[in-house]
Amino acid sequence: MEERFTTVAAIDIGTSKVACAIAHIGGLDGAISVIGKGTAVNTGMRKGVVTDIEKTGAAIKAAVDAAERLSGYEIQHATITVSGSHVEGMNSSGKVAVANPDREIRSDDVDRVLDVCRAIQVPSSRMLLNVLPSSYIVDGQEGIQQPLGMVAYSLEARAHLITAGSTAVQNLEKCVQYAGIAVDDYVPASLAAAELTLTETERDLGTVLVDIGAETCDIAVFYQNAVVHTAVLPIGGAFITRDVAIGLKTSLAAAEELKTSYGTCDLRTVSVSERYTVPDEPGDRYIERADLARIIEARMSEIFEMIAGVIAAAGPEVTSAGVVLTGGGAQLEGIEALARAILKTGVRVASPVGPLAGILDDFRGPAQAAILGLFSWVAVGLEEAGVAEEPSSSLLGRVGGAFTGVFSRFRR
Ligand SMILES: Nc1ncnc2c1ncn2[C@@H]1O[C@H](COP(=O)(O)OP(=O)(O)OP(=O)(O)O)[C@@H](O)[C@H]1O
Ligand SMILES: [Mg+2]
Repeated sequence: MEERFTTVAAIDIGTSKVACAIAHIGGLDGAISVIGKGTAVNTGMRKGVVTDIEKTGAAIKAAVDAAERLSGYEIQHATITVSGSHVEGMNSSGKVAVANPDREIRSDDVDRVLDVCRAIQVPSSRMLLNVLPSSYIVDGQEGIQQPLGMVAYSLEARAHLITAGSTAVQNLEKCVQYAGIAVDDYVPASLAAAELTLTETERDLGTVLVDIGAETCDIAVFYQNAVVHTAVLPIGGAFITRDVAIGLKTSLAAAEELKTSYGTCDLRTVSVSERYTVPDEPGDRYIERADLARIIEARMSEIFEMIAGVIAAAGPEVTSAGVVLTGGGAQLEGIEALARAILKTGVRVASPVGPLAGILDDFRGPAQAAILGLFSWVAVGLEEAGVAEEPSSSLLGRVGGAFTGVFSRFRR
């Protein structure tokens, strides 16, 4: 049998870096096989929102160029992440009468009830990005995940809706267009990051996924295999770096190096005698590791207090199975211990796992959870849309346009 797959491009546009990757998805084993990848430093964003189109556009172009060179493909369309505190989640519900005389629920009934869910008043300054059904109620019976084929008089649906600031999304699109690429679909960064980091059990029992980036924490709560709460906090690892630079009177670059090489937020693991020289400074200036750790712990505690607020807003029932941390900022030493102490629940740090293959090397750590998760998101969309898979194509093919699920996503 000939191996068949679809070639897809994804771009994660973060505040500290843009990551682009090209992958074959599908094939005989349903794998995500990465054939091109690239990252570039981004200086054109603040807190997940574009502040400089040229700088962000140039970062996207650099990441895209690297992925194209490696793969031999040219990207025309891509699925991208969206972040920033303008991205908001809300729950909605809807109810319809089952239309068919035989009372069997068909896909048009499901479409209609989801149309009711999405018929919320969105102010003109905002746009609806995603509609994520969470559960159905069939003649009053709650907790139905697949209503198709059931017999009933009424069908109700619950859904999580994600909206975003129109201008913030338009500016992001401009940056992608600057790099000569059209946007296939916008995916909230939290949901992209959740794809390959949460287990089935975690999604079912009620788990909080937090992608700790440079200037955003993208949060999504999963319960009974559905998204029930989302939030974006405008804070992240770059705030820690700035505190270190101010507190220890170093450059930002030296502070970043000190943080990632010797930093920890678990004060109990630091011995009093540990000292390190400040990088890139004339003469030897020593800093105490305990001072570094205290600065980091203070800011990281504040970040977890804010995350605790989001968890409290979501409610205890849907968050009882604990917290999963990912994103570049989750690599901070001691982060699990501090998170457990403040959030008072189970915590683990996750890297993307799943049917990943191809040229990954070190491109599969917490910082790549969102970019790799985008492929999983697209794969689910392709499966649902029943898009015919292309035969495996040769080099110098063109990527994109396979699936345009713009502004809505239905997981049934
Ligand atoms: N070993 C490490 N220890 C502590 N922090 C780290 C480590 N490695 C990376 N980081 C931090 O991770 C952050 C970058 O994470 P990531 O690449 O996920 O952000 P981003 O996607 O660019 O930003 P955002 O999602 O906020 O827009 C930086 O603040 C960086 O200092
Ligand atoms: Mg990110």
